[in-house]
Amino acid sequence: DGRPIVKYDGFWLPLFYFRPILSIQKYFKAKDSDIILTSFPKSGTTWLKALAFSIANRNIYTTIDQSPLLTRNPHTLVPFLEFDLYADHDNPDFQHLSDPRIFATHIPFKILPESIRESECKIIYLCRNPLDQFISHRHFLLENKFLKDAVPLELDEAFNMFCEGIHIFGPIWDHMLDYWNAHLKNPEKVLFIKYEDLKEDITFYVKMIAEFLGYSFSVEEEKQGLIEQISKLCSFENLKNLEVNKNEYTGGVLKNSSFFRKGEVGDWTNYLTPAMSERFKKIMESKLEGSGLFFKI
Ligand code: A3P
Repeated sequence: DGRPIVKYDGFWLPLFYFRPILSIQKYFKAKDSDIILTSFPKSGTTWLKALAFSIANRNIYTTIDQSPLLTRNPHTLVPFLEFDLYADHDNPDFQHLSDPRIFATHIPFKILPESIRESECKIIYLCRNPLDQFISHRHFLLENKFLKDAVPLELDEAFNMFCEGIHIFGPIWDHMLDYWNAHLKNPEKVLFIKYEDLKEDITFYVKMIAEFLGYSFSVEEEKQGLIEQISKLCSFENLKNLEVNKNEYTGGVLKNSSFFRKGEVGDWTNYLTPAMSERFKKIMESKLEGSGLFFKI
C-alpha cells in the first residue's frame, strides 16, 4: 500500500506498527480468561470477531436483537492490539474492560508477547486460502487509500512480491505454519480454523468455537436455536446489509463496507492466470510439505 515494511524475526512488519508491536511484547499482560483472535490480514478476521464476541457475550445480550453487532462494526467491539490499542499508547490501561477480554491481532505467533503464549488464555487462528487472501487484500487497498499519493502496484508486481513472501505480516506460509504447529503442539490452547470450512458448515464451527473457549451451548440453548441465530447474525449477508456497515467509517479512515466485499471462496480464479496459480501452488506445496496443512488451489 506504499507504506514501508521492515523484516523482523523473519516477518515483514509495517514500519509504523513496529513501535506498537514492541510495546505489546513488553507491556501486554494476558489474563487466563482472555480470548486472542489471530489471523493474516483479509482472512475473515471481521467474521471471527463477530462470532467470538457473540459467543462469549451471550449471557449479556441474551437475545439476538440486543446484539451490539446490529449497530456497531465488529472492529469497534473487538480491538486489534497493534492497530487500535497500542498504536497511540505504549501501555494502555485495560482496567475498565470486563471479562472475557477479546483482542485480535495479526502478529505472528513467535512475535506474540510471552504472556499470551504462557498464560491459559485461548488463541484462535483463522486461516484462508492465500490466493483469496491476496485478492481480498488488493481490493481492500484499492478501496481504502492509506497514503494519499500511493500508487497501487500492478497485479503482476504485487503477486511477484507475494510469492517472495514480501507482504504485510508475511510470508503468509510462515505465518500460518507457526500457528498450525502451535495448534498441533497444544490444541487446547490454539484452535486452528479455515475460512473455507466456516463457509461450509458454520453451525458446526460456532459450536466448536464455543466449546474451545469454554462457553459451550447448553442443551436448552441448542433447543432454542441459538447456534443458528448467532451464525445468521454473523453471516456475510446480514452484516454487510446493516446500516452501520454500509456507510460508516472505522477509525476515521477505513470504510466499514470495505470489510464486506464478496465473502466467497475461490474469487481468485477471476483475477489470476493459471500460470500464476500454478506458480503459487508449487511454492505452497514446498513450504507446507510434511506439515499436514493444505489448500485447494
Ligand atoms: P473478500 O474480499 O474476499 O470478500 P478481514 O476481516 O480479515 O479483513 O477479511 C475480509 C474478508 O472476509 C473479505 O473477503 C470479506 O468479504 C470477508 N468477510 C467479512 N465478513 C464475512 C462474513 N461474515 N462471512 C464471510 N466472509 C466475510
